Amino acid sequence: MIHLPVMAEEAIEYLNVKKGKWYVDCTLGAGGHSQKILEKGGKVLGIDQDEEILALAKKNLSDYRRKIVFEKMDFRHVSEAIKKHKIKEVFGVLYDLGLSSYQIEKDARGFSFQREGPLDMRMDLSKTTKCADILNRGIEKELAKILFEYGEERMSRRIARAIVQNRPIQTTIELANLVARTIGKRSGKIHPATRTFQALRIAVNDELAALTESLDNIFPYVASNGRIVVISFHSLEDRIVKRRFREWQKEEVFRVLTKKPLRPALEEVQMNPRARSAKLRGGEKYEY
Ligand SMILES: C[S@@+](CC[C@H](N)C(=O)[O-])C[C@H]1O[C@@H](n2cnc3c(N)ncnc32)[C@H](O)[C@@H]1O
Repeated sequence: MIHLPVMAEEAIEYLNVKKGKWYVDCTLGAGGHSQKILEKGGKVLGIDQDEEILALAKKNLSDYRRKIVFEKMDFRHVSEAIKKHKIKEVFGVLYDLGLSSYQIEKDARGFSFQREGPLDMRMDLSKTTKCADILNRGIEKELAKILFEYGEERMSRRIARAIVQNRPIQTTIELANLVARTIGKRSGKIHPATRTFQALRIAVNDELAALTESLDNIFPYVASNGRIVVISFHSLEDRIVKRRFREWQKEEVFRVLTKKPLRPALEEVQMNPRARSAKLRGGEKYEY
């Protein structure tokens, strides 16, 4: 399946792309958003911690070779890449958080509860801790905490107990079925294991800390009037962005441009279900 960039029109509008200026795409993925920045004449530093997807982006964006540089890294260290490429000022930063369709649909990566795969869930394949390590070695109380804090799962204790009683758990489907058996089907459309899988993925990749650190890490490199745009897919990420934007605004170094987060148009959601839960926030740095 092709990965359609989520809220691409809105993201590009809020980035306010200027010809010949540098933009940092912290979540390059297959390069959909970056391509739009490049088409508008911007230069791109494209970052992703997943080497498989980075290789794909390099292929997809080969026409723009002279206007883009790539770095395989965790975006929490983004300033290192900015310094390495001697970029003086960044005019826009984009985060399109979470996973790409390529990652979700590759069984061997173990991200999906609908596909049989190993319990891996690492975005960066050079990291050592996989989902299976957390599940099969973690103590029950810590597992429950992960499920509650990162999945906002109300049945966290019950699920953690079931995991401990049934381990070792080997595959994604085994885990999904165990969660479904333990908490049953709930009202609404989401699969009972949705929150459990979200929580474990966040824990494996330390996603919330990475986002918080990255925003602080890049801020000093953003030019006056430079933009920061974040597309998030669940409330934990969105809360981090909202708070950080507000704090900067209070310090009078930033102007929030989206009072409320933008949501995708109905037509986009119909075409691309992944956009369903997207929220976009944008703002502009300013200096006296
Ligand atoms: C939703 S996809 C981005 C899709 C992209 N905007 C496009 O149009 O093709 C998110 C990407 O961000 C990467 N990613 C997530 N967290 C990261 C982090 N902390 N550091 C670097 N890359 C990260 C993932 O590996 C994934 O490829």
